[in-house]
Amino acid sequence: MIKNLKKNIIVTGSSGFIGYSLTLKLLEWGENVIGVDNHNNYYDPKIKDARTTQLKTYSNYQHYKIDIKDEKSLNKIFKDHKPHKVVNLAAQAGVRYSMENPIAYINSNILGFANILECCRLNNVEHLVYASTSSVYGANTKMPFSEHDSTNHQLSVYAASKKSNELMAHTYSYLYELPTTGLRFFTVYGPWGRPDMALFKFTKAILEEKPIDVYNNGKHTRDFTYIDEIVKGILKVLDNPATANVNWDSNKPDPASSKAPWRIYNIGNSKPVKLMDYIDALEKTLGKKAKINFLPLQPGDVPDTYANTDNLEKKFNYKPSTSIIEGVSKFVEWYKDYYKI
Ligand SMILES: NC(=O)c1ccc[n+]([C@@H]2O[C@H](COP(=O)([O-])OP(=O)(O)OC[C@H]3O[C@@H](n4cnc5c(N)ncnc54)[C@H](O)[C@@H]3O)[C@@H](O)[C@H]2O)c1
Repeated sequence: MIKNLKKNIIVTGSSGFIGYSLTLKLLEWGENVIGVDNHNNYYDPKIKDARTTQLKTYSNYQHYKIDIKDEKSLNKIFKDHKPHKVVNLAAQAGVRYSMENPIAYINSNILGFANILECCRLNNVEHLVYASTSSVYGANTKMPFSEHDSTNHQLSVYAASKKSNELMAHTYSYLYELPTTGLRFFTVYGPWGRPDMALFKFTKAILEEKPIDVYNNGKHTRDFTYIDEIVKGILKVLDNPATANVNWDSNKPDPASSKAPWRIYNIGNSKPVKLMDYIDALEKTLGKKAKINFLPLQPGDVPDTYANTDNLEKKFNYKPSTSIIEGVSKFVEWYKDYYKI
């Protein structure tokens, strides 16, 4: 029998924006990817189906349309495929929607994530990488946000659900020696992006000559991060499981460090951009002016985000290089092609 040297990797949320982009790269590399997604209708499921159709063209891809809350089905997938690694990206995303429907976040992000942890524990997974968010910094005002800052004041149920993932992961890493790495993503954008996020909504409205809603009277700054940089970061981390008893900063043995093979990293561009400059880049790319409807800061939203990515840089030589104008143009090119404009 020829030994299969490729890894079996479960990616949850594989029909989502980040999950699809990551899975595509893994498939191109020849890894065996088992995608899990419930194709929920939080945003137009047609775009999830379109992403999945592309993934299914690869013979090294298998897809399961299930909910990670469904413990029995999830267990079976883990038992059947014996994954070496797991990337959990399935979640109810979005800060604003968590004001309307907090229970959706408890179900997918807390119950669902607990099932993922259990399946990883029971199947001796080598490394669990999971999505956290810059929103865990909540009411913090010290910039840039560092993983060493305390994060005890989340402002939305979404952020609190992600913080709880980090806490639960630590406990599993400590008790069961399950290597876990949480990645705090900073506003991700790019081709195949999410229809509920600003760039998508703004592009649609500007092309249709409708007004765009701009919150906090346009005074937000965001550390917008291009999708390929996020995928690059996940891939670097995925291959390097966290180890116990190693100092967080120096990466050298340190008995005083926690026994848990647990890590948290920011993944961001580390170059915050004013929201109005982001809109300006979009207007220039589209060759059209936006009609702006300025609105106050929304409850749950944080005014500014800015990632300190020193840890990722030191350990993995991670340095994002996509400029806003380049990233926005690639998104617009994709958008026009996808919607045949
Ligand atoms: N996009 C960003 O800017 C951003 C920023 C910070 C964190 N994140 C996190 O990154 C991850 C991926 O985000 P995204 O932007 O790709 O979002 P997305 O909504 O496009 O992808 C999530 C996918 O998970 C699926 N899903 C949701 N709940 C599920 C469940 N219970 N069972 C199975 N599948 C389920 C959805 O159908 C969707 O396809 C999420 O955990 C999100 O919270 C994203």
